[in-house]
Amino acid sequence: MRAAVLDEFGGPLTIEEVELAEPRAGEVLVRLAACGVCHTDLYTASGADPSGYAPTVLGHEGAGVVERVGPDVASLSSGDHVVTLFSPQCGECVHCLDPRTNLCMAIREQQNSGFLPDGTTRISRDGEQIRHFMGCSTFAEYTVMPEIALARIDPEAPFEQACLFACGLSTGLGAAINTAEVHPGSTCAVFGAGMVGLGAVAGCRLQGAERIFCVDLSAERLALARGQGATDLIEGGEDVVERILETTGGFGADYTFEATGNVEVMRQAVEAARMAWGLCTVAGVAGRGETLDVVPRLLITGRRIAGSSFGGVKGREGVPQLIERAMAGEIDVAPFISHRISLDEVNRGFELMEAQDGIRSVIELS
Ligand SMILES: NC(=O)c1ccc[n+]([C@@H]2O[C@H](COP(=O)([O-])OP(=O)(O)OC[C@H]3O[C@@H](n4cnc5c(N)ncnc54)[C@H](O)[C@@H]3O)[C@@H](O)[C@H]2O)c1
Ligand SMILES: [Zn+2]
Ligand SMILES: [Zn+2]
Repeated sequence: MRAAVLDEFGGPLTIEEVELAEPRAGEVLVRLAACGVCHTDLYTASGADPSGYAPTVLGHEGAGVVERVGPDVASLSSGDHVVTLFSPQCGECVHCLDPRTNLCMAIREQQNSGFLPDGTTRISRDGEQIRHFMGCSTFAEYTVMPEIALARIDPEAPFEQACLFACGLSTGLGAAINTAEVHPGSTCAVFGAGMVGLGAVAGCRLQGAERIFCVDLSAERLALARGQGATDLIEGGEDVVERILETTGGFGADYTFEATGNVEVMRQAVEAARMAWGLCTVAGVAGRGETLDVVPRLLITGRRIAGSSFGGVKGREGVPQLIERAMAGEIDVAPFISHRISLDEVNRGFELMEAQDGIRSVIELS
């Protein structure tokens, strides 16, 4: 198959022919149809990620069709439409059995080091093993993934929209719906209007929030936030907390969301949360070694801070549900797709992202 291989950190991905072995027990062969290009792919490609490895096939926001299943696969069969899950759901581990979290423990270690659950890879090139990125490796025509890391979706869902639910969009939606459980009538403030922040704005709206502040540095992105339901648009800067407090009778927002990855913005999101019960949900991923600076008094007086990985979404159940809501017209996904590119243009996808040109480039594969 053709795939975009990362050989050297900092270098471009090269599109080449690699071998993909048949799925083994508990694994599924997927023909990919669409894949989003995400910051996490670029983060690893650039060499900035200290836990990155190469050679690997990047990509983790995939959607496609099950081609074949390996032995012992019961929940999927050929022809099923699926979304890839870097955050799997085995349904059996201590976390999967608990409604409080989506952090499945089943395959974490092997996945983090680029292997399928049995500790080997299916991708190779002239006999050399090529590792699986985030358990997905979706910058490719096909992938082999564990059954527990694939969500079966409505076959009517367009692939180019469905793939966005593999990462940022579900993260933002879920932060508001699952992690914060925003109450109807409340006031929310979302910091950052990328894929994650815009998803959070939409999630707050779906939960029935009355007022939704959105903070970003880009007027273009704030306009997109308006389209997702933001009622108050604020240009980012040092005075943001003050401005939110001023317009909320000095109290702050019932729920705040951080979706920039900047620890200074995380601090603002904590400070903009209302005393007594304000909840700040952090979705952004900070740089290695960075810490969040919070005055403890803010917590004594009732503010809380929560973190959210993949929006607390238990992927196999939750992603199909979110896609159903999009298909029912509750979530407007189309504005997030800014560019459609081919697999050969994957490096251009990175360039567009670095230039902050649009929200998502989607690779069309078949
Ligand atoms: N928790 C998870 O599971 C998860 C999943 C996906 C992504 N993420 C993280 O979420 C964050 C956002 O991802 P994204 O894809 O939306 O990124 P993005 O870069 O597209 O969006 C970030 C936005 O923040 C804005 N911003 C930057 N500095 C700001 C400031 N000082 N004030 C206000 N806005 C500011 C930018 O203008 C941009 O629009 C990243 O840190 C990413 O790594 C987390
Ligand atoms: Zn992603
Ligand atoms: Zn599990």
